[in-house]
Amino acid sequence: MSVLIKNGRIITASDDYRADIFIEREQITLIGADLSQVQADTVVDATDKLVIPGGIDVHTHMELPFGGTFASDDFATGTRAAAFGGTTHIIDFAVQYRGQTLRQGLETWHKKAEGKACVDYSFHMIMTEVNPGILSEMDALIEQEGVTSFKLFMAYPGVFYLDDGEIFRVMQRAGENGGLICMHAENGIVIDVLVEQALAAGNTAPKYHALTRPSSMEGEATHRAIRLAELARTPVYIVHLSALEALQAVTEARDLGIPAHAETCPQYLFLSYDNYEEPGFDGAKYVMSPPLRPCHHQAHLWRGLQYNDLQVISTDHCPFCMKEGFQGLPRQKELGLDNFSKIPNGAPGVETRMSLIYDGGVRTGKFSLNRFVELTSTTPARIFGLWPRKGTIAVGSDADLVVFDPEARKTISASTHHMRVDYNPYEGREVQGVPTQVLSRGQLVIDGDQFVGSAGRGSFTKRGCFNYY
Ligand code: URP
Ligand code: ZN
Ligand code: ZN
Repeated sequence: MSVLIKNGRIITASDDYRADIFIEREQITLIGADLSQVQADTVVDATDKLVIPGGIDVHTHMELPFGGTFASDDFATGTRAAAFGGTTHIIDFAVQYRGQTLRQGLETWHKKAEGKACVDYSFHMIMTEVNPGILSEMDALIEQEGVTSFKLFMAYPGVFYLDDGEIFRVMQRAGENGGLICMHAENGIVIDVLVEQALAAGNTAPKYHALTRPSSMEGEATHRAIRLAELARTPVYIVHLSALEALQAVTEARDLGIPAHAETCPQYLFLSYDNYEEPGFDGAKYVMSPPLRPCHHQAHLWRGLQYNDLQVISTDHCPFCMKEGFQGLPRQKELGLDNFSKIPNGAPGVETRMSLIYDGGVRTGKFSLNRFVELTSTTPARIFGLWPRKGTIAVGSDADLVVFDPEARKTISASTHHMRVDYNPYEGREVQGVPTQVLSRGQLVIDGDQFVGSAGRGSFTKRGCFNYY
């Protein structure tokens, strides 16, 4: 099976030129100014379109058990939606629950994904228990399983939380074995006090989720995480960074030469605390951690993206329905109707990332097309050990490609999106810049508004170690 993509404008993190791309056996085998002599089974016309590396979303939670329910997208629905949005690779978070080995947690996630994924995927490992056996298992995950990054939580005491001593031990091990620590940086101990006080005062509405998770406690935890990593001599990657105070901690560290890295997500760039003030229970749509911040944080995050203090844009896709019964799903956000602390944390986004960032980042002139590719595909691949197989357009790379129409417009809506969730946080927002064809390892999976791939074709991809510098 061969494919020829004709007449496109190829954009990578560093290049911008017009050429044809020939694909055989899942990989790019030829790039040339005019390949019209080459015979191909399928020809894709990319005239007036961009051809970009498929998006890589390094932060998703398909079917994550959380808050008494589970994230509503599974690997079939979630990766299909990802493909519609121009994302051809996800890195999801497998969880080691207390009492389990890392491999037991990993096995559960392999079972969730096998036979279901429509695009390729990898796993990070969430660690919730640390002992000498678990620490040595980290080495095995890196060497044998292709799982090279580990998420730790400074938040959610009693659920995912690790104390500073446990975190420091894991970081020391990562310093030896080359694993990358991904940190959920919020001071969960202090937040729990604020939550208890808010509920005692009768403040139960969704907005109190945000009011009990102040940005200063994200800044404090981010600073602490970076300093612990510095002492342990290991790089650190801050996930879902939302606040100026956290960005300041990352920027200050980077200026000192400390290998601190961070991602932000579209919700922190386009939505704000004001969304929690929407009528009735609608604020629950935006209950996620860290929470949405007051508007003024957004400009700082855009600046961080421009000046590379933020290196990646991921989604933290973790959807929960507002109403019981959507596609047979149980009660989800409504679990917290009378108590904001019981609203499952998370929101959908895997499908909307690429168009939102093109529209809000490139079209507004905040950054270049090359930077768009770098933030959404190339740097994610480099940091998480997928490059150069993924994250670029080059001979020998996987043909994970997106033909992207920079002029096409669409209105985001739950009535047309493909994620398995009954609302969209960006409902009614018009964006310019839409994927028209998406290829996963050389197979067309999206053609216009049609899904032409298949569940189960996406395969698990083992990753190498942190490879940014
Ligand atoms: O609210 C969020 N972010 N839900 C997903 C779990 C996490 O902390 O990433
Ligand atoms: Zn998190
Ligand atoms: Zn997350």
